[in-house]
Amino acid sequence: MTDGEQSLEVRRVSATPEALSVEWQSGAVSEFSSLWLRDNLREHRDPHSGQRLIDVTELPADPRIRTARSADGVVLIEWQGETRTGRFDLGWLAAQAAGIAAQRPELERRLWLAGSELSAERDFAWATFRAARSDGHARLAWLTRLLQDGIAFLSGVPREERAILGAMSLVGRVAETNYGLVFDVRSVPQPANLANSDLGLGLHTDNPYREPVPGFQALHALVTSPDGGDSLFADGCALAEHLRATAPQAFACLSTIAPLALPARAMPAFYAAYRRFAALLLDPRFQLRMKLAADDLVVFDNQRTLHGRTAFTSARHPRHLQGCYLTRDSVYSGTGLLRRELAAAHR
Ligand SMILES: [Fe+2]
Repeated sequence: MTDGEQSLEVRRVSATPEALSVEWQSGAVSEFSSLWLRDNLREHRDPHSGQRLIDVTELPADPRIRTARSADGVVLIEWQGETRTGRFDLGWLAAQAAGIAAQRPELERRLWLAGSELSAERDFAWATFRAARSDGHARLAWLTRLLQDGIAFLSGVPREERAILGAMSLVGRVAETNYGLVFDVRSVPQPANLANSDLGLGLHTDNPYREPVPGFQALHALVTSPDGGDSLFADGCALAEHLRATAPQAFACLSTIAPLALPARAMPAFYAAYRRFAALLLDPRFQLRMKLAADDLVVFDNQRTLHGRTAFTSARHPRHLQGCYLTRDSVYSGTGLLRRELAAAHR
């Protein structure tokens, strides 16, 4: 039995023409629509790939259940005016009833608003590179927390140029940009990008102008500064929810309006909302502040977790991080596949 499945014992199976009702031994009741069941007949899917063999237009518009009964771990359904009998495994029905979150806990987002009250070491996932590489269960636990919290850390990543690529092969697929597969974050004279200066950087996400926007970002600390250069993070989704609760008009404005298309008379309201959200990003209460040690690596959801840093003085203490981006789908699907592989190995 996988996580979240109901007990496969049933107390009662009943049906109306529109829906099947299963009362589990636990007392919980699950309802399944007749139309949805008719679509999900086993013979409508390829047994190997699971891909659909019928087009939705081939389904009857209003299939009505005539009888439903359970026998030997299977629910048998007959529809009015049809000779076929639909067979549905109770285990499969239970898994559908439990929902996707029960099967994939990594999809359950855990928002964190008051970052200043949190400790990166205590409140977020850490794994050693060695454990993440050699222990699938440790890697799955770490990936799950990465997706739930929007940020997670590795330690003990070899202090070598491009070692980030080896580490990220455990996490997802690296997306190349015009900066290359790997980019350097260190100070240079007259930088084209402020990331390559000593300046502090306010909370931001990277490259929002790309299509697709980089899903995840990783930063590997090769040389750290003992004086400044602290990393800052905030949960953008938690901040957006905070804005929705405290300034619903500002939230509505920012979540519905494309500013460049605005007429001049609507611009002041947009800027008021924009300013209100930006003030949240400046508020230290909402910032998780920490210092990456050399060999540490942080991975974060670049469309959720904002990042920034405090200023430093590279002439006295040089600082060097290497970074890369990961595609969003590869991190999610890699986590789901690993969960499935580990479950299959235990059967
Ligand atoms: Fe950045």
